[in-house]
Amino acid sequence: MTTDPGWTTRFGAYAVVTGASDGIGRAIALDLAARGQNLVVVARRQAVLDALAAEIRATQGVDVRVLALDLAAPDALWTLAAATESLDVGLVVAAAGYGSAGRFLDADPASDADMLAVNCRAVLDVCHLFGGRMAARGQGGLVLFSSIVAFQGVPYSATYAATKAFVQTLAEGLAPDLARSGIAVLAVAPGPVRTGFADRARMAMGATDDARTVARETLKALGRRRFTRPGPLSRLLGWGIGMLPRPLRSTIMGHIMKGMTAGADGQHRQETA
Ligand SMILES: NC(=O)c1ccc[n+]([C@@H]2O[C@H](COP(=O)([O-])OP(=O)(O)OC[C@H]3O[C@@H](n4cnc5c(N)ncnc54)[C@H](OP(=O)(O)O)[C@@H]3O)[C@@H](O)[C@H]2O)c1
Repeated sequence: MTTDPGWTTRFGAYAVVTGASDGIGRAIALDLAARGQNLVVVARRQAVLDALAAEIRATQGVDVRVLALDLAAPDALWTLAAATESLDVGLVVAAAGYGSAGRFLDADPASDADMLAVNCRAVLDVCHLFGGRMAARGQGGLVLFSSIVAFQGVPYSATYAATKAFVQTLAEGLAPDLARSGIAVLAVAPGPVRTGFADRARMAMGATDDARTVARETLKALGRRRFTRPGPLSRLLGWGIGMLPRPLRSTIMGHIMKGMTAGADGQHRQETA
């Protein structure tokens, strides 16, 4: 462990990481522990979180609290608030989220509503809860995950792209506002990343960025910038189509998404998890 006292002074003795059981959230939890920050790790899979906590305690010697929680549950915020009440939480990494691929009319409306609850409502809730607490402590950080799909409508992933547009817009609006309270807000827009994401969305990705690279570049940007595209592929794709007119970007992203959806099993599928 390379303890970084400056980091924990600014971002608190504890960081809350949602979506820590897999992918980008897990990689960020490991990086934060290596900086000497204690953790509250949140996701639904208790056993996976317990194993992660044991690994981190053994290797980094920091405190890790496990909170197995479905963030779509109506009372999730209160459970999270109660579990962290006595802790000096100065950083929240809201990495929990998932996507879907396929034609809109094939999607289960209940699944889309669940995605909205996890990707948007839960993110808004943690911003309210911890933003208030961080303002009271005079400093802190909020890391919100948007996506390369957030900047235009995306056929074959319309609901997911819309949830990420919400997160991107929310983060952009919060950043200057909460900066006045000493809180750094970072919007993170990864491209395709090798994680559990593709399996749950039932899509097949081609080239991907690595979750550890995404984690490292995200934490490097926190407090320095308000927006980052972590990973070389994210930058290549983001800058490659970023200058095109929005309807054209939408068409291109739709083709890409359709290809990734068909690649999973030869036909368009919807989220059923
Ligand atoms: N991978 C990509 O290509 C990509 C690209 C752009 C943006 N992103 C965004 O990056 C973030 C992290 O994604 P990832 O790639 O790391 O995906 P991942 O490997 O599938 O991890 C998603 C995490 O979210 C948690 N989660 C999902 N539903 C939840 C719920 N209802 N309540 C609590 N936790 C829940 C999962 O844990 P449990 O299953 O244990 O609950 C898991 O820890 C997401 O917001 C995603 O939208 C990913």
